[in-house]
Amino acid sequence: MNPMLGPNRLKLGTFASNADGGLSLTTVPERWTAAWDDCLAAARTADEAGLDFLLPIARWQGFGGATRAREWSFETLTWASALAAATSRIALFSTVHVPLVHPLFAAKALATIDHVSHGRAGLNIVCGWNPSEFGMFGMTLDDDGYARAAEWLDVIEKLYAADGPIDFDGRFYKLKQAITRPVALQRPRPVTMNAAFSPPGRDFAANACDQLFTTFTTIEEGKRHIADIATRAAAAGREVGVSTVCHVVCRPTDAEAEAYYEDYALTNADHDAVEQHMSSKQKFSGSHDDESYRLYRQRFAGGAGSFPLVGSPGTIARQMAEISQAGFSAIALSFVNYREELPYFCENVLPLLVEMGLREDVLAVEAA
Ligand SMILES: Cc1cc2nc3c(=O)[nH]c(=O)nc-3n(C[C@H](O)[C@H](O)[C@H](O)COP(=O)(O)O)c2cc1C
Repeated sequence: MNPMLGPNRLKLGTFASNADGGLSLTTVPERWTAAWDDCLAAARTADEAGLDFLLPIARWQGFGGATRAREWSFETLTWASALAAATSRIALFSTVHVPLVHPLFAAKALATIDHVSHGRAGLNIVCGWNPSEFGMFGMTLDDDGYARAAEWLDVIEKLYAADGPIDFDGRFYKLKQAITRPVALQRPRPVTMNAAFSPPGRDFAANACDQLFTTFTTIEEGKRHIADIATRAAAAGREVGVSTVCHVVCRPTDAEAEAYYEDYALTNADHDAVEQHMSSKQKFSGSHDDESYRLYRQRFAGGAGSFPLVGSPGTIARQMAEISQAGFSAIALSFVNYREELPYFCENVLPLLVEMGLREDVLAVEAA
């Protein structure tokens, strides 16, 4: 079974380990370079510890600076397929830019991952926000990106549902006698979320996806996002989960964690890359409110503006419980160095979450 449909009340996974820096913009020597062997080792640690998912970021260009952060990133469908063959429990998302990938191709690629993984594939839909990335493809951003996304997903579902070749005559896509075999094992399609913040993005998730993947600035504000998406989903007669993203510094004491956070995300931030990332996101993406750009420069260097989980295992487990109580069903985590930091996190935070009733001890359940 896809662990995204499993019993854990708070699902956990990693985000962006396929890309240089992960979510951080820092010059510390241990920074993540996303070398394949490190991606694989981190994925196996997450899989063996019983985390629920691996979620890649979709990036085509970097943010410059001293490190040329994110310029290096593995393409996400092929990355997920490779990891599907190297893991046994964990869900494997692909993050796909709708306008850049034809739905017939996406349907086949996703079905491939679903078969390689025996039903553990996931789809994270992104409509794109960065005009210069689209410029690399000779394309401009859609004005009406979510209308395209709705049609794109509809094409995939129709291809999976059809017994034979289909014609599709839409506003964005016209398919003639199209067929894809094999179809995905998961029906009607692999677990799907939409990464967005804006009202149109939320409406698309509410109408067509299983999850919204979104950011929040304070836990109080997060609760308002949850209520808003619940209202939108109810209007569509549906229920939609909400996943979010946090960057993690977990150390034996709060003081050690805070000192390291200051070291990598303030003293040794890649300041030029932070500048470029913040200004382009502020200009072109609605993924954060204006206040968060003003207040949280450290959060952008630390984890692309996501919420920080910085402290001892106990502090982090308590904050995760608050995020869960606010209504989030999953948290995608980033680390400065996933391979070095995941083992400590898994050994020390996961048992606390089991004690709190937020997660099952997967390994004990399997042994029984
Ligand atoms: C949590 C989260 C993760 C995202 N991940 C990606 C990504 O991997 N690649 C990308 O190009 N955009 C990503 N985005 C950007 C969104 O896909 C979207 O283009 C952006 O938020 C602007 O659309 P919106 O105004 O509807 O939110 C992400 C957004 C959020 C909130």
